Amino acid sequence: MPTQNTVPKHVGIIMDGNGRWATARGLPRSVGHWRGADAVEEAISAAEEVGIKYITIYAFSSENWRRPAAEISTVFGLLDHYIKTKAKTLVDRGIRVRFLGERHRIDGHLIKQMDWLTEASRHNDKLHLNIAVDYGGRREIVSAARKIAALVMAGDIQLTDIDEDLISANRYQPDVPDPELIIRTSGEMRLSNFMLWQSAYAEFISLSVLWPDFKKHHFHDAINQFMNRERRFGGVGNMALSG
Ligand code: FPP
Repeated sequence: MPTQNTVPKHVGIIMDGNGRWATARGLPRSVGHWRGADAVEEAISAAEEVGIKYITIYAFSSENWRRPAAEISTVFGLLDHYIKTKAKTLVDRGIRVRFLGERHRIDGHLIKQMDWLTEASRHNDKLHLNIAVDYGGRREIVSAARKIAALVMAGDIQLTDIDEDLISANRYQPDVPDPELIIRTSGEMRLSNFMLWQSAYAEFISLSVLWPDFKKHHFHDAINQFMNRERRFGGVGNMALSG
């Protein structure tokens, strides 16, 4: 079977299983999230080793606001801690860090930290680390629709100018290519509102490992699986086309 053998340029990761990891050990869910932050480093190092250009990690979804207040503050506290403790090494390693999602419900102090790290790393290009915070794929599409509607109302474009490229150009991060691979841990098989527009042709790989136990070799395994898959993009595949 013909396979495409290049590593993906962009990998999205749905980090799932922190709560179950903690509960299975009789620990509070917050401990699972803290261990989950360590696993983020495993994913970044593995991406560096493989030569991936972009990774997007799903840290907090627009639906996660439904969780208990204490758990929400644990995750945001962790993000704050992560930026404070890891910023220097991320910047020194040539990693460009950006955040995608809505901002108005996030504490102003954390927004400042996020903006500071974005600015401090803006000239880096070795690996692009995108952290999805208060992110929802549907809301991203709504946001693009509003921007485009404003252009139509202002008379800057016509209805017939609206096409897939224009919607893509109005995403939160128009310069970031679509992910070719989405990895989800904890054995779940859902996208959970993650990069809905961008993942139209992404390969999806579900790993049974719970996120806090995620190690570099899990990332390498997923990349190998990806490289052995045949991608057809709605066509008939290379074999049939070539003969
Ligand atoms: C899903 O596990 C995980 C989250 C909702 C939070 C993810 C956050 C981190 C890994 C840490 C913060 C990120 C950074 C960049 C430091 P879950 O709680 O839904 O697990 P469960 O399905 O087992 O309950």
